Amino acid sequence: MEKSFSFSNKHHDLMARDAASVLGWRYEPRIIFNKGKGVILTDVDGNDYFDMSSGMMSLPLGHSHPELTEEIKEQADRFVHQSSWYSNPWAIEFAELIASTLPGDLKLVNFAVTGSEANEIAMRMALGIAGKFEICTVVRGLHGGSLAAEAMTTVGGARKRGLGPLSVPARSNCIIPPFYYRAPVDDRDEWDRISLQLSEEMIEYATTQEVGGIMVEPIMVAGGMIVPSKRWLQGLRDIADRWDALLIFDEAQLAPGRTGKMWGFEHFDVTPDIVTFGKGMSAGMPICGAVTTPEIAERVSGRNGLPWSGTYPQDPLLSAVALKQLKVVLRDNLAGRAARLGEVMRGDLEGLKERHECIGDVRGKGLYHMLDIVTDRDSRKPDAERAERIRYNALLEGVVLICVKNYIRLCPPLIITDAELAEIIGRLETAIKRAEEGFPTTTNISSSSSLATNDHHEFRGHQT
Ligand SMILES: Cc1ncc(COP(=O)(O)O)c(C=O)c1O
Repeated sequence: MEKSFSFSNKHHDLMARDAASVLGWRYEPRIIFNKGKGVILTDVDGNDYFDMSSGMMSLPLGHSHPELTEEIKEQADRFVHQSSWYSNPWAIEFAELIASTLPGDLKLVNFAVTGSEANEIAMRMALGIAGKFEICTVVRGLHGGSLAAEAMTTVGGARKRGLGPLSVPARSNCIIPPFYYRAPVDDRDEWDRISLQLSEEMIEYATTQEVGGIMVEPIMVAGGMIVPSKRWLQGLRDIADRWDALLIFDEAQLAPGRTGKMWGFEHFDVTPDIVTFGKGMSAGMPICGAVTTPEIAERVSGRNGLPWSGTYPQDPLLSAVALKQLKVVLRDNLAGRAARLGEVMRGDLEGLKERHECIGDVRGKGLYHMLDIVTDRDSRKPDAERAERIRYNALLEGVVLICVKNYIRLCPPLIITDAELAEIIGRLETAIKRAEEGFPTTTNISSSSSLATNDHHEFRGHQT
């Protein structure tokens, strides 16, 4: 028997009003939540769900962490917003603390409101320093949805249609990713070598050869949780150096601590010239930014609209809450916790893979993993429909997951316990079994995400 949701009339009414008056992407059913505590989300009928997406990957401490709630209250009472021609103690301390966690000379923070804006600051810096116009990004990278960041993004594909000249020409999206699972050759070392060689050839022949920057997520999350080898990321550093381009790491999905290290790039022994942050560093507040060296900052200041400013970046309320969160993450060694629990989660997910043919691969680091759902292991053909069935059934089991295309993400708050994790894996397995049985009988992802719609043929270049 197919299991189904049961919502109150009040809940149905809110869903209908949401559909009628708020524009946005929504999963089905469009549940309306009105409470969050720790790893638990509660809907307007009082049903509880585990939040395996940490909001928008933005809540390492979970929902309504008591120390953050107190900080919000105190700061709301004291100082919320100010002119960005002046500063405040919390923004200064936040910037200092961020710098203290970074290697090399990454010391100066230019704050932004969104991750897209932070990446645009990085782009302005790269263009400003060299007066060169190309910024090269990786195929299967995501850097945001503002128009310049969208041009750097390649996972959206169809969502760029119609934007035309508002978006920078796609010629810069030319770095070939180390997507080993669907690479044309099985040997990882070989694919590292080939993909880097092809990338450099693309830079040489498909760009103006005036490369100001190379932007990449150290782990390409939305593109399929692609975890590169050290050699690949170090190779990209070498390419950036050869072309006299700045290397920009987009850490929006990774910092702080989620992958088992404070910054995701620390796994690879490569230091960028600019690092951007958002989501997890923001504590759910709109405070993001780009960090660079004093030398680069000095060279670009007064050019290309830098330093970037606006109405809200580094506001006292946002800064105070994000600062408090970062202090707690460091004090409680949540990176270490993510590393330990990540091993547990990885083991559990590998166990699920052994038992369920539709899981083609498990990828990720620390408390951020992804299931690659396939029609069968031989073809490795992506099965977005089955992935959506799993997501839907997981929701029925009280687990909120992100699923885009055939990729199911597991991204819990870093404060999750072993027991909660075990409970979630059990529920996830129930959801997978129901999906394998063909439930729900209809799926509709057309309104779930701009990344999921209009999907194209995805293939594995070589068949085994
Ligand atoms: C890696 C990465 N960079 C940048 C962004 C854009 O962040 P925002 O939505 O805050 O503009 C995202 C958003 O999903 C992201 O995943």
